[in-house]
Amino acid sequence: MLTIKDLKDLHGKKVVVRVDFNVPQKDGKIRDDNRVRAAIPTIKDLLAKGARVILLSHLGKVDWKKLAKGEKTQEDIDAQMKKNNLAIVAPRLSELLGQKVNFVNATRGEEFDKACEALKDGEVLLVQNTRYEKGEEKNNPELAAIWAKQADVFVMDAFGSAHRAHASTYGIPEILKGEGKPVACGYLVEKEIANLMRCVEVKDSDRPYVAILGGLKVTDKIQVIDSLLKKCDYIIIGGAMSYTFRKAQGAKIGKSFLDEGALEYAKKCLEEAKGRIILPEDSVITDSFEPVSGRKISVVEGDLPEGFEGVDIGPKSAKKFAEIISKAKMVFWNGPMGVFEQDEFQAGTKAVCEAIRALKGKAFTVCGGGDSAAAIKQFGYSEDFSHVSTGGGASLEMIQNDGHLPGVDILK
Ligand code: 3PG
Repeated sequence: MLTIKDLKDLHGKKVVVRVDFNVPQKDGKIRDDNRVRAAIPTIKDLLAKGARVILLSHLGKVDWKKLAKGEKTQEDIDAQMKKNNLAIVAPRLSELLGQKVNFVNATRGEEFDKACEALKDGEVLLVQNTRYEKGEEKNNPELAAIWAKQADVFVMDAFGSAHRAHASTYGIPEILKGEGKPVACGYLVEKEIANLMRCVEVKDSDRPYVAILGGLKVTDKIQVIDSLLKKCDYIIIGGAMSYTFRKAQGAKIGKSFLDEGALEYAKKCLEEAKGRIILPEDSVITDSFEPVSGRKISVVEGDLPEGFEGVDIGPKSAKKFAEIISKAKMVFWNGPMGVFEQDEFQAGTKAVCEAIRALKGKAFTVCGGGDSAAAIKQFGYSEDFSHVSTGGGASLEMIQNDGHLPGVDILK
């Protein structure tokens, strides 16, 4: 696979770069610019080599599939497009690069072609959200060809989107390869792969290898457990997904989140794990999320009472998890232990952060993006990890598929 270092003089060349500027936003402002920052080394390198840089990224979701199925209306789609206007990234990108960033509010057609062709050496163009196009997520070949036509070179630096075989992540490099044009990975993808591969191809010196899973996306993560069971010494499970496992063990879970469809799978995992899956023994519970005032909060061991739901691991579980983590030589963490966005339910996630901080210099520790990356940033632990991934889904899929991601494999 070519890397950006293999690309030398790029004067006169249009380089299409797929970046992941899928940033969290609030009230039309970027809430966390981490992903924009993470793409800067690649963009600067290309500009220094004289390239005319064309940046493609998606932002949020536009539910074209649901529109086709009649589950969304055209007004819903219009509202999603309005909300996910990539123009909000241009000013921040310009500040970080220290130069003007051109923005084109079109993803094809005359306006798009003109903006690409007007670029001079060392200039940057940010293109409107790739998901404004129906064909993006379907990897529509006609759409990929429209974008590929503007590219002399393709660079993939959207690690967070590398698990998606879309027109901008897969279709473009596929076409360019067929034309004998260079396709390469950028610095971010290179760094992410190097770090995450260590969690995939485990060396004896990295044992005990402890995975910590949590968060809301239960079904997605349950799939990765199979793969982790083969690689890890222990899998600690907290957060919402732990209640499906506790139910599978026969515990009462009150009104906690249950992934019904995954119950049998959870039972199978627990059998196969032979004690290597570690579940919480106690939980912080509440009778209501909303309203916040007047709600009841307590800690219980074992079964949860009717009408209550688990919202964080309890102190006993936090201590047990910390003990296991303290012996680890390698840690992969994806998903918070509780509803860390609310002060009352942060302790479990903070306890895991503290346990990992204590490993600094002694173990290789990875935070697999998504909500856990947001949590460690909020609590000030980002510097304590060996690697914090910019991709939640992508880092999980990389582990699940033994190091393979479509958006990276196509570059080979
Ligand atoms: C992410 O935020 O995980 C990536 O940008 C991918 O986004 P997606 O899940 O909407 O494809």
